Parts: sequence; C-alpha cells; structure tokens
Amino acid sequence: MEKKNIDWSNLGFGYMKTDLRYVSNYKNGTWDEGTLTGEDTITISECAGVLQYAQTIFEGLKAYTTKDGHIVTFRPDLNAARMADSAKRLEMPVFPEERFVEAVVKTVEANAAYVPPFGSGASLYLRPYMFGSSPVIGVKPAEEYQFRVFATPVGPYFKGGAKPITIRVSDFDRAAPNGTGHIKAGLNYAMSLHAIVSAHEEGFDENMYLDSKTRTKVEETGGANFLFVTKDNKIVTPKSDSILPSITRRSLMHVAKEYLGLEVEEREVFFDEVKDFAECGLCGTAAVISPVGKIYDHGKEICFPSGMEQMGPITQKLRETLTGIQMGEIEAPEGWIKVIK
Ligand code: PLP
Ligand code: COI
Repeated sequence: MEKKNIDWSNLGFGYMKTDLRYVSNYKNGTWDEGTLTGEDTITISECAGVLQYAQTIFEGLKAYTTKDGHIVTFRPDLNAARMADSAKRLEMPVFPEERFVEAVVKTVEANAAYVPPFGSGASLYLRPYMFGSSPVIGVKPAEEYQFRVFATPVGPYFKGGAKPITIRVSDFDRAAPNGTGHIKAGLNYAMSLHAIVSAHEEGFDENMYLDSKTRTKVEETGGANFLFVTKDNKIVTPKSDSILPSITRRSLMHVAKEYLGLEVEEREVFFDEVKDFAECGLCGTAAVISPVGKIYDHGKEICFPSGMEQMGPITQKLRETLTGIQMGEIEAPEGWIKVIK
C-alpha cells in the first residue's frame, strides 16, 4: 500500500479529510449494521438534538506504525468503555463496545495510506463520536442517533512538540461537582472555548482548572490530565470525580510503577503544593505527555526546576517508555496493543 504524499514530520494537530469514515445510525431502538462511506458531510434536521441541546459525545485515540511495520491502536477497548459511560450520562444509546473497536479497526484499515510512517513523530488520530440526529424542541433526549468514526493524520498538539509550555490558572470553571466533567461530552469543550481563546490572547498555551467548589485543588486542563513529579521522584496525579479519566494517565501510572519502578499516587492535589513539585506534565492522547515549564497564577509564577528548554528527566523517561510501547519498541502489557494489520 502506497502512503499519501504528506510532509509527516511537519504536521500539526489539525483536520485533514481522509478517504473513508465509518457511520452507523440508531433508529427505532436499534443500531443498523454500519458501513464505511466516502461522504464527509452530514445532513440532519434543523431541530436535531445535537444542534439544539448539545447532545453529543466523542472519543480520541491514535493509530501508529510500529518499528516492524504493523499498524496498531492503543487500548481502544478503554475508549469504547468510556464512550458507553458518556452515552449513559447524556441519555444516549450505547454503541456496543465490541462494535466500537470494530468500527475503529475498519476506519484505520480504510485509511491505512494516511497512517504516518514509524519515526515521523506523527500518528493517525481517530475521532469516534455520536450525536442526537432527530428533532427535539422540548428539552429531552433525541430518538435517533448517528455514530461515526473519522481519521486524520496529526503531529504534536502543542506547537514546539515536546518543548515546555506555559499555562495559567483559569478564572473560569470547567466542571461542576456532580456535573459532566468526567465524561467526554462536547458541552465540556464548548464552555472551555472562551477560556482557551483568552488564554492564547494573553500568551498562555493552556488553562489549569481548579475545582469549582473550593478553588483550592488541581483538576485538569481543557484537554489533558496533570502528572506531577515530586523532588524525590514520586509520580502524583490529581484524583477527582469531575475530571476526565484519561487513558494515557492511567497507562503512564502503570508504566511509572511497573516499568520504571517509581512510586505513584492518585490523590487530591492542592494548588498550594504545586510549587514544590520538580516536574509537571499534561497527559492525554493528543498531548501524549507535554511538559509544563511555568504556571502563571494571577501575577505570581511557578517555575519548575526542569526549565523552559527541555522536559524534566522523569517526564522524558515516561514519554519514551509509553511511546516505545505504542510503537512496538518496548514490550506492552497484555491487551494494550490492538494490531490492525
Ligand atoms: N482530559 C480531557 C479534558 C481530555 O479532553 C482528554 C483527551 O481525551 C484527556 C483528559 C486525556 O484523556 P486520554 O488520555 O484518554 O486521551
Ligand atoms: C484527545 O486527547 O484525544 C482529546 O480529545 C483532547 C482534545 C482536546 C484534542
């Protein structure tokens, strides 16, 4: 199979239309058999649930070319399970988890020419999503839904790749106690747009959200969880019911413990203790693990000892080990890698 003529090493995190995407429709209480389609546009009712009341959820995962030339994805079963949780919270029908994985596999197979080569630093980002497609005008769930998966080749999420970024403590909240912060619903991202645009305007790469009830505890950023490294090399990650349970973060905690022999802790992290950490990173499918060099908090700065030029040594080790597992250079724990072809 011939690869597309793309400048893989210079890709950013953007959308590029690829050849085929997967689509399945839910009507009269059942999902149809699903198919691949070349049609990249969607026609729905002007009164569709997604357009009126934001009834939409999504996932994000990547396909990689391994060192020995296979195409693989990373833990797609966990994305399937998380999407089921998201669907239940927004009163949407669950797309069966095995069918989710099958749809991802079909989409990757159909767009194999877009999977970036090994060593390019890029990957094929997969975006499964589902939305209410039938009309609703009273506030209630739609009766019909569409599930789709598209693929787009991507490079690093933050400009500069693995260079440390600067974030600020946000005055806007991302999620409420007992709200929807723990699911991957479009509405969580809609309400972060003003915060991210104003952060960018003020020269920051991302927002650090604190818990909205007490504003004393670290939650996450708009698109990634936090990992901190203590001065004695312990890995600490915030525990909260209102953050997205990141698959990357869960994987990195395992890597830290089982591959690197580090102590790991998932617990409440108070903002006051952040200044004492040695390293800070943002972890997620898009972010992988992106180092944070500086946090701006209303006129005060927290500068991590790892600086603004390169990532800290533990963050670097975590990143190398995780990407090594994803690209087939390091043996993966049982069940982490789904070989597609
Ligand atoms: N937190 C938020 C708000 C996200 O959007 C994402 C991205 O999916 C993550 C965390 C990281 O999750 P994952 O590692 O499963 O991609
Ligand atoms: C991902 O990492 O897959 C995400 O969905 C984050 C998004 C903000 C790009």
